Amino acid sequence: MKRAFNQRISSTLTQRKQAGLNRSRTVIEQGNQSRLVVDGQSYINFSGNDYLGLAGSQELTQAWQQGLVLYGSGSGASPLVTGYSKPHADLESQLAEWLGFDCALLFNSGFSANQAVLFSLLEKGDTLLQDKLNHASLMEAGMLSPASMKRFKHNDVFHLTKLLTTSDDSPSLVVTEGVFSMDGDLSPLAEIAKITSANNTWLMVDDAHGCGVLGSNGRGCSDFYQVTPDILVVTFGKGFGLSGAAVLCNAECGDYFAQFARHHVYSTAMPPAQAHALSHALSMIQQQEWRREKLTELSQQFESELGSFSGAVKTETPIKPIIIGDADKAMEISAALKNQGLWTTAIRPPTIPSGTARLRVTLSANHTQQDIKQLTQAITELG
Ligand SMILES: Cc1ncc(COP(=O)(O)O)c(C=O)c1O
Repeated sequence: MKRAFNQRISSTLTQRKQAGLNRSRTVIEQGNQSRLVVDGQSYINFSGNDYLGLAGSQELTQAWQQGLVLYGSGSGASPLVTGYSKPHADLESQLAEWLGFDCALLFNSGFSANQAVLFSLLEKGDTLLQDKLNHASLMEAGMLSPASMKRFKHNDVFHLTKLLTTSDDSPSLVVTEGVFSMDGDLSPLAEIAKITSANNTWLMVDDAHGCGVLGSNGRGCSDFYQVTPDILVVTFGKGFGLSGAAVLCNAECGDYFAQFARHHVYSTAMPPAQAHALSHALSMIQQQEWRREKLTELSQQFESELGSFSGAVKTETPIKPIIIGDADKAMEISAALKNQGLWTTAIRPPTIPSGTARLRVTLSANHTQQDIKQLTQAITELG
């Protein structure tokens, strides 16, 4: 019944269109900067995750070019075969030392790192407790894993405690993001760490949006809260301006993942030139404090200019959601801002809970005060 797939695809697409939730990709002609060009028209980009402004930096481009000259284009194999080379090993030890762990293991994306950890760690009879707003990669892996998954209310330590104390004494893993990607708020990590330690439970933190941005030298949420989780995931597509990810943990756990994390074992290692460039991005993050200072200034400016604008949520991060509620309305406002040269993508269900469609405004160290002023004025006038 080959036609069954065609019918399924076509009816699912129709449903999505009828619900007004169809998405399309936009071809960005030039874009990994605070400016992007679409159809020949230039916009100020308030929708990226390049918080520190590294993605388009000449310095980082040169580091990658140098890596290409030194190591060629591809890694040529998976890490346990012949794909693991000196720049990979160097990057892993730099990350481990910087973040205070025994070891780091590289992955090609944050999505695969999260899935690899949950799939290789959890067995039948285990309990997995996840914040309700965790990223799709964690939720999906939890649902497909043999463990029994429970979701605690967003950042609700009482609910987490209740779930933990009413669970049997099976091995349990608590997973939270450090900075929530769609809300820009921080997880109450210090309290969660106390609870997990009191309940003899492992804690895993996905710090995709905190690493590079928060904490001293940009070490992220665990530094910000002085908490060392059992497993930390950092990704390189946001603050690092590149792509890829690393899992940080103790030496034995690192050995376990290197043997059993299938997304690591059975996937071509990232190009060594990329690992070389990532080491350079790491040194820029460590040394170029001005990028974090600039983000803090722009963030204060954004919040003070918007004042108590309805739906605008104040955060300690460069992620500044403006909750609109209705998905069509969010699309309309996003389109109106685009007409004024301001790119703010509307985020709609199913990425976020229904009724909470929003503009997910993100700031970058490459924005200027004038960029922020233009955006806040436009939003205020539209509001
Ligand atoms: C919290 C979080 N974790 C993981 C990921 C996936 O990371 P990557 O883009 O490297 O696959 C994302 C990506 O948006 C994210 O927001």
